[in-house]
Amino acid sequence: MKAIILSGGKGTRLRPLTYTGAKQLVPVANKPILWYGIEAIVAAGITDINIIISPETGEEVKAKTGNGDHFGARITYTLQEHPGGLAHAVKMAQPFLGDSPFVMYLGDNLIQSELRLFLDHFKAQKLDALTILKSVANPSAFGVAKVDAEGRVLHLVEKPKIPPSNLALVGIYFFDRAIHHAIASIQPSARGELEITDAIQFLIDSSKQVEARQLEGWWLDTGKKDDLLEANRIILDTCLSAAVEGQIDESSQVIGRVQIGRGTQLINCTIRGPVIIGSDCYLENCFIGPYSSIADQATLIDVDLEHSVILQGAKLENIHQRVVDSVIGQRAHLKFAPQRPKALRFLIGDDCQIELA
Ligand code: G1P
Repeated sequence: MKAIILSGGKGTRLRPLTYTGAKQLVPVANKPILWYGIEAIVAAGITDINIIISPETGEEVKAKTGNGDHFGARITYTLQEHPGGLAHAVKMAQPFLGDSPFVMYLGDNLIQSELRLFLDHFKAQKLDALTILKSVANPSAFGVAKVDAEGRVLHLVEKPKIPPSNLALVGIYFFDRAIHHAIASIQPSARGELEITDAIQFLIDSSKQVEARQLEGWWLDTGKKDDLLEANRIILDTCLSAAVEGQIDESSQVIGRVQIGRGTQLINCTIRGPVIIGSDCYLENCFIGPYSSIADQATLIDVDLEHSVILQGAKLENIHQRVVDSVIGQRAHLKFAPQRPKALRFLIGDDCQIELA
């Protein structure tokens, strides 16, 4: 069993963060989203992993993620020269995959369940394809499946205007080698891409064994700001263990599950978990409330913050109101006058969103 992880795409819905980096490297609880996928795959016993990268962000993904030693896996990379669709990515990975069955994992997806549960079913039933479904309120934003009572997939359609059900395709699929013939047999869709949904539909129409299993736990597709904050909340809620390094002065208070990295300094702060603060940060006169992640080398002075994600090297000073539901990009600088500001001066990048509520 092998694995491919798709880590291309332009990440348009996460702009401006994705102007300077891959959406799969945006951190959730201070760890790139992509790495959760790698860890889930390795936990399922699959250690031969190929990551499909794009020319725009591939080098960054490679440099950060490496050859897999860190994960106990062997990680190689395949360049997808242009965004030709998910099925096109599988085609690019064919030299790596050979005839092996494989899991295909979209690098911005996170699920709660263990992959092994699905993998065991896929193997035991000798399926040609196994998809994972989750009932959602907005199926039109996803691939949608219609299934029979036994879980056999009858029909799949990509982002339908009128969805045949509320069952969205989670971005994790199990395939055997029959998928390669299916991909070779389909035509690009109206948006010019080779769709994996069309390839799976081809398998169904060829009477191959295609099943779907419904996902019980949470599923997050971290493509947008609110999804990212939600992923951050859930991961901090379920996976964070307390570990305090760094220096905390006597007037600071650390309450609940809080992780603070090496070299971080806290002066007169209250931190109420679950919160993760990276290494080499400086925080003075701050209240950091639940569900906040602060990456390495951030500086926060006179800030009251909760349910927010602060990326590496960002600097926030003298913010008079509570900062909530916010994502602050790398090295961004947000500074107010110590008293009520008389004027507001901005240098704001493209596609930024600022809300003074
Ligand atoms: C892709 C798939 C879609 C699936 C979704 C899950 O869409 O095409 O079928 O439901 O991933 O994340 P995308 O996120 O690329 O728009």
